[in-house]
Amino acid sequence: MKYFRAPLERGDSDAFIDRIEAGFNTHGFGLWAVERLDQTGLIGFVGLSVPSFEASFAPCVEVGWRLAKSAWGCGYATEAARCAINAGFDQFGVDEIVSFTSTANAPSIAVMRRLGMHHDPADDFDHPMLPAGHPLQSHVLYRLSRDQTTD
Ligand SMILES: CC(C)(COP(=O)(O)OP(=O)(O)OC[C@H]1O[C@@H](n2cnc3c(N)ncnc32)[C@H](O)[C@@H]1OP(=O)(O)O)[C@@H](O)C(=O)NCCC(=O)NCCS
Repeated sequence: MKYFRAPLERGDSDAFIDRIEAGFNTHGFGLWAVERLDQTGLIGFVGLSVPSFEASFAPCVEVGWRLAKSAWGCGYATEAARCAINAGFDQFGVDEIVSFTSTANAPSIAVMRRLGMHHDPADDFDHPMLPAGHPLQSHVLYRLSRDQTTD
C-alpha cells in the first residue's frame, strides 16, 4: 500500500468497480480481472482506462495494473499488460498508450520498462488528484505508440 494514498473503504471500492464497469460500457475496454491459468481465483486487475483528470497528455488511454502481493515476482503483470496493450492497438484502434505512477514506485516503473515503454522526463508531472507536497505527488509518464511495438 505504500504507493497508494490510503486503503479503499468498502464504499470507495464499490464506486471504483462501478467506474470500471461504466468504462467498459463507454469504451469497450477496461481493467480486466486477472487469474492464473492453473488456479482459480482473482489475483488482481490489469487493463486499459481513460483517466478523468486534466493533464498535458490527456485525453489518453492508460495501461495499469494491481496484483495481490502473493502474485508478485512471477511476470504476470507484464504478461497481462502486453495482452491489454495489444488489444488496445489491434482491437480498439488506440494509437498511443501511456502509463504513469509515483516516481517512487520502482516495481511499476519496471513493468513499464519491460513493456518497452518510453520515458521523456519532460512528460513527468505532479498528480493533480494528490494534495500539493504529498510524498506520492511526483509522477513519471511512460508512452508506447502503435508503431513502437515489436510483437
Ligand atoms: C506493480 C506490480 C504489479 C509489479 O509486480 P511485479 O511482480 O514486480 O511485476 P511482474 O508481474 O511483471 O513480474 C516481474 C518479476 O517477475 C520475475 N519473473 C519470475 N518469473 C518470471 C517469468 N516466467 N516471466 C517473467 N518474469 C518473471 C521477473 O524477474 C520480475 O522480478 P524482478 O522485479 O525481481 O526482476 C506490483 O508491485 C503491484 O501490484 N503493486 C501494487 C499496485 C501498484 O503499485 N500498481 C501501480 C500503481 S500506479
